[in-house]
Amino acid sequence: MIEEILEKIRSSSKYKDINEKTILEIINIELPKYKNEKILVKAVKNKLHQIYGAFLNRRDIEGAQKLLLMLKSGEGNIKETANKILQLHHSTRERLDVYEDIYREIFKVTEKPNSILDLACGLNPFSIPFMNIQGAILYYAYDIDSKLIEVINEFLDILGYPRLAKRKDILFEDIEDQADICFILKFLPIAERIRRGLSLKLISRLNSKFIIVSFPLKSISGKEKGMLKNYSRIFEPVFKERYKILEKLILGNEMFYILLKRR
Ligand SMILES: C[S@@+](CC[C@H](N)C(=O)[O-])C[C@H]1O[C@@H](n2cnc3c(N)ncnc32)[C@H](O)[C@@H]1O
Repeated sequence: MIEEILEKIRSSSKYKDINEKTILEIINIELPKYKNEKILVKAVKNKLHQIYGAFLNRRDIEGAQKLLLMLKSGEGNIKETANKILQLHHSTRERLDVYEDIYREIFKVTEKPNSILDLACGLNPFSIPFMNIQGAILYYAYDIDSKLIEVINEFLDILGYPRLAKRKDILFEDIEDQADICFILKFLPIAERIRRGLSLKLISRLNSKFIIVSFPLKSISGKEKGMLKNYSRIFEPVFKERYKILEKLILGNEMFYILLKRR
């Protein structure tokens, strides 16, 4: 039955490039809640929309691919192209005015890194030109969409970086790469939506010295709903179990924590 449900979901063009493991885990979480298969398929698709579809779609990823092709054929420069790609999605578009400030403030505390691990990265790797880093670093980027990962690897290649983007579920698969800094941007509320407690599990498995976690201060619909207070109350005790909170910053519509691993 699980295989059949998996096939049904993967036959939808919206979810065909998503990591199979992610879909299987969500089916297993939702399975005990529903007796009717049709309703179960709907519930799984609904969860996939909440964790993925609301943030990424085929059109944006193909848009990024086209912009990279234009760059390769000599149109525009890397930073302009990255800027256009970051504009494709609300989640990165809203950071465009503050991207350079974000990285300057983070690197003031952590120093400029030689390696970065960007978990559930979405389009964020296209902000590398805003980091003001000289020379190539190791940029590991994980997300669950294989098409997105292909496009990120093409971009890393253009930058002269190794192709280290991988299709990976960061909640249910091993994270074997390590880096000076790990980004978990606007993701922990999504992890909690899949199953409560997954955030703590995730941050406990990481080996980076610094972790940068962020939260949106407005929902996708633009409402504020007391998110600053809520996220601080829910997540700060979770962070304190494994990390020291070095800094808490508000930049644009986002709150960032700079966390240092306790040894
Ligand atoms: C709100 S977006 C954040 C993207 C990026 N971190 C940023 O802030 O610009 C959430 C991202 O998490 C990815 N995602 C959802 N569940 C995931 C999982 N279990 N493992 C890896 N990535 C996941 C989605 O595909 C989407 O790109």
